[in-house]
Amino acid sequence: MQRFIIQSLILLLYGAVVVIQAQQQVTVPLNDSVIHDASIGSGDLQHYYFSAATTSLLDRRRSLARRDVPNLFLTLTSCSQPTPPPNYEGDIPSLDVFLSMSSDNTLPGPSQGLLVNNTKFGRVAWENDNPISDLWIGVVAPTLTENWTGNWTFEIAVSTEEWIHPLLLDQKNIPYITLDDTDQTHALFSINQSSNQQHNNASVLIASNVPKQLLYSRCAADKYRLANYATNFTETIRGQQAMISNLTEATRYTAYYIESTNAISPPIQINTKKSDNCRLVYNLGFCDQVAYSVPANPTDTIESIQSRYDNHAQELFQPFETAILQYNCDSTKYSLVRNCTHCYNDYKRWLCSVSIPRCADSIEDKTESSNAGQVALRHIDTNHSRSAWIDETLSPGVYTEMLPCIDLCYQVVQSCPPFMEFACPKGDLAALQYGYWHKTPLEEGQEDDYFNDSLTIYGINHPTCNPVNLEEDRLVISQASSLLILRNHFSIITILFVLSITFL
Ligand SMILES: *[C@@H]1O[C@H](CO)[C@@H](O)[C@H](O)[C@H]1NC(C)=O
Ligand SMILES: *[C@@H]1O[C@H](CO)[C@@H](O)[C@H](O)[C@H]1NC(C)=O
Ligand SMILES: *[C@@H]1O[C@H](CO)[C@@H](O)[C@H](O)[C@H]1NC(C)=O
Ligand SMILES: *[C@@H]1O[C@H](CO)[C@@H](O)[C@H](O)[C@H]1NC(C)=O
Ligand SMILES: *[C@@H]1O[C@H](CO)[C@@H](O)[C@H](O)[C@H]1NC(C)=O
Ligand SMILES: *[C@@H]1O[C@H](CO)[C@@H](O)[C@H](O)[C@H]1NC(C)=O
Ligand SMILES: *[C@@H]1O[C@H](CO)[C@@H](O)[C@H](O)[C@H]1NC(C)=O
Ligand SMILES: *[C@@H]1O[C@H](CO)[C@@H](O)[C@H](O)[C@H]1NC(C)=O
Ligand SMILES: *[C@@H]1O[C@H](CO)[C@@H](O)[C@H](O)[C@H]1NC(C)=O
Ligand SMILES: *[C@@H]1O[C@H](CO)[C@@H](O)[C@H](O)[C@H]1NC(C)=O
Ligand SMILES: *[C@@H]1O[C@H](CO)[C@@H](O)[C@H](O)[C@H]1NC(C)=O
Repeated sequence: MQRFIIQSLILLLYGAVVVIQAQQQVTVPLNDSVIHDASIGSGDLQHYYFSAATTSLLDRRRSLARRDVPNLFLTLTSCSQPTPPPNYEGDIPSLDVFLSMSSDNTLPGPSQGLLVNNTKFGRVAWENDNPISDLWIGVVAPTLTENWTGNWTFEIAVSTEEWIHPLLLDQKNIPYITLDDTDQTHALFSINQSSNQQHNNASVLIASNVPKQLLYSRCAADKYRLANYATNFTETIRGQQAMISNLTEATRYTAYYIESTNAISPPIQINTKKSDNCRLVYNLGFCDQVAYSVPANPTDTIESIQSRYDNHAQELFQPFETAILQYNCDSTKYSLVRNCTHCYNDYKRWLCSVSIPRCADSIEDKTESSNAGQVALRHIDTNHSRSAWIDETLSPGVYTEMLPCIDLCYQVVQSCPPFMEFACPKGDLAALQYGYWHKTPLEEGQEDDYFNDSLTIYGINHPTCNPVNLEEDRLVISQASSLLILRNHFSIITILFVLSITFL
C-alpha cells in the first residue's frame, strides 16, 4: 500500500515535471516577415521555428525563381530590460540567440546550437550563408540574482525578403546623418541624400536616457523618445539639413535617423551646450559651408549674428578676389589636379573658418573624458577674441573657441597658384592657431558612436578641430605628421603670405 502511494507520488511528480517542461518547450512558429512581440524572464529559454516552406505559394514561386532556397534574414531587437537592484553597478546582461538548421536539434540553446555572433547593443542579426529551409531558434535570457524586477521584452522576425529591423547604413557603412553642432537648445544634422533614396517617412528621433544595452533597437528608441521637440528639414547648398529645437541645455541625448516603422540608424550621442553665448548659425549667404555654433551676445537675434559675421567675412575676402582675378586661370595651368576654382573655394573656406570662430563649451567641461586633451580648445577672455572686430561688434564675453583644423590652411597652399606664395604657420605658432584632426580608432565592424563615460569617440560627429565641412578624407594632418609635411614641402617656399590668424 505504502509502495503504491510512493509510486503514485512519483508518477504525479513526474507528470507535473513533464507538464512544466512541455509548457517551457512550446515552440512558436514564426510567419514570414511578421514581427512577433514577446517577453522573457530571468533564466528562461524560448523557442521559435521558421520554415521557408510555410511561406505562401506566391512568395515561394518568387523565391524559387530567384534561387532554389530563399535567403533568410533574422533579427531580434530588445525593447526593454529588467531593472537591477539599486546597489547594482555592473552592466545589464543581454539576450542571446542560438540557432539550429537541423531537425536533429529542434531546441537550440546554450548547450546545443550556434550562437549568433552579429550582435550590437539591443540588436541581434543573422543571415544564412548556405541555403536552408528550416530554422530553429532559441532565445535565452541570462539568469539574474534576486531583487531584479521585470522581464526583457523583444521583437523577433524572420523574413525571406529583407531585413525587418534594418540598420540604416549605406554600402560604405556610412550612417545617413552626421551631427554638425549643438547650442543650448538646438542640434543641427546633415542628411546624406545620396544614401537616402526612399524617404519612407524619414525623420530624426531624439531620445534621452536610452540604456546602453538597447542603443541599436528601434522599439527601445521609440520608448525613450522625447515628447516635445520640433524638427525642421531644409534644403541647403550643403545638402539636406534637420534642425532640432526645443531641447534642454547641458543635456545628453541620443539622436537617430529613422525611416518607416522599424528602420533606424546607429545612435549619435549629442550634448547641448551650457553656455548661452554659443549660437548655431547656418545658411549663410557667403560662408555657405559654415554650420556650427559661433560666439555671440545672448541678447542678439540669430539673423543679426549671421549677417554680421557673413558680411565681415565677405569684406575680408575682397583683396584675395582682386588678386586671383589678375591671374590668367584659363591659360595658365599650375597643377594637374587643382585649378582656380579649387583655390577660390579653399581660400574662402579657410577665411570663413578664421573669421567666424567656432564656439564650444568651456575647457573644464571637457575634462570628464580621458582623451579630451586631443580637442583644440582655447579659452577666450572678454574682449580677447583673435579679431578685435568680434569683440566690438558682437560682444560675446567669455567663451571657448574650437580652433580651425590646420588642413584648411594646407588645402589653400595646395590649391592656389604658386605666385600667391601662401604658406601655413609652423611649429608652436601652428599649434597656437590651429587644431589637428584625431579620429578614435574603432574595432573592426564597429561604427559605434556611443559615449563611454571616460572616452569620447572623436570623428565626424565629435571633431577635435573645426573642419568647416571639409571632406573627411582631406582631414589628414595629425600633430605627428605635420612636421614631416612641413619639411618636405614648405622649406623651399619663400614665406610671403603666411596663412595665419594674425594676418586678419
Ligand atoms: C502566424 O499567422 C497565423 C495565421 O494568420 C496566426 O494565427 C499566428 O498567430 C501567426 N503567428 C505569429 C507568431 O505571429
Ligand atoms: C516574463 O517572462 C515569462 C517568460 O519567461 C512569462 O511567462 C511572463 O508572463 C513574463 N512576465 C511579464 C510580466 O510579462
Ligand atoms: C560564432 O562564432 C563562433 C566562434 O567563432 C563560431 O563557432 C560560430 O559558428 C559562430 N556562429 C554563427 C552563427 O556564425
Ligand atoms: C534583496 O532584497 C532584500 C530586501 O531589501 C535584502 O534583504 C537582500 O539582501 C537582497 N538580496 C540581494 C542578493 O541583494
Ligand atoms: C554620402 O553618401 C555617399 C554614397 O554612399 C558617399 O560617397 C559620400 O561620401 C557621403 N557623404 C557624406 C557627407 O557623408
Ligand atoms: C517645447 O517644449 C514645451 C515644454 O517643454 C512644450 O510645451 C512645447 O509644445 C514644445 N514645442 C514644440 C514645438 O514641441
Ligand atoms: C525652417 O527653417 C527655415 C529656414 O531656416 C525657415 O525659413 C522656416 O521658417 C523654418 N520653419 C519652421 C517651422 O520653423
Ligand atoms: C508613413 O506614415 C504614414 C502615416 O503615419 C503611414 O500611413 C505610412 O504607411 C507610412 N509609410 C511607410 C512607408 O512607412
Ligand atoms: C576646375 O576643375 C573642376 C573639376 O575638378 C571643374 O569642375 C571646374 O570647372 C574647373 N575650374 C576651372 C576654372 O577650370
Ligand atoms: C569690452 O569692450 C567694450 C567696447 O569695446 C567695452 O565697453 C567693455 O567695457 C569691455 N569689457 C571689458 C571687460 O574690458
Ligand atoms: C571605456 O574606455 C576605456 C578607455 O579606452 C576602456 O578602458 C573601458 O573599458 C571602456 N569602457 C566601456 C564600458 O566600454
